Amino acid sequence: MALVIAIDGPAAAGKGTLARKLARHYGLPHLDTGLTYRATAKALLDEGKPLDDEAVAAEMAARVDLGHLDRSVLSAHEIGEAASKVAAMPAVRVALVDAQRRFAASGKGAVLDGRDIGTVVCPDAPVKLYVTADAEIRARRRYDEITAKGEEADFSQILEDVRRRDERDMGRKDSPLRPADDAHLLDTSKMGIEAAFQAALTFVDKRL
Ligand code: C5P
Repeated sequence: MALVIAIDGPAAAGKGTLARKLARHYGLPHLDTGLTYRATAKALLDEGKPLDDEAVAAEMAARVDLGHLDRSVLSAHEIGEAASKVAAMPAVRVALVDAQRRFAASGKGAVLDGRDIGTVVCPDAPVKLYVTADAEIRARRRYDEITAKGEEADFSQILEDVRRRDERDMGRKDSPLRPADDAHLLDTSKMGIEAAFQAALTFVDKRL
């Protein structure tokens, strides 16, 4: 069976870094599915299109090219906010999930990270991880990331954003963020990335 590693969790829990490290370790391609929602949102923003027109958003989603997703042009806070709005639209999800499934099935395996990989995109993945951490700790990581670049940041604003994004992602009707029943939970609140990586490796190796 293809080694598909499904990684889900809320924003800033460390799942992206973990996914990249696991992909490198096992020599598998990696897809950060959040970027597909971000690319859809950015296309709408760039073209001055409304964020609440599902048909228009779905059209944009269908045009997203998985080969050209660049986090450096998609990382802006406003794009993340807009992404979580368009991600609540079923027609957008149909288009993007279809592309994500094709990516997962295209080789000897893949690592995908997002919000609904273990529950919807790849429910049969042999390895599922749900990576989480306390909201305060995730907000602190975001804050440190921004201030490390020499930029200004407001911790309480970031914490509010993290909580609002969690609520939107967990509360939506279509594919809400939740751990799959068979997911392995990894709480990184008190773990550095290296410890989280080692814990994930131990878990994945047992499934091979
Ligand atoms: O992970 P990232 O912050 O890049 O994701 C942006 C938004 O895209 C999330 O807040 C979420 O609403 C949406 N998303 C999703 N399903 C995924 C990945 C991301 O709904 N598999």
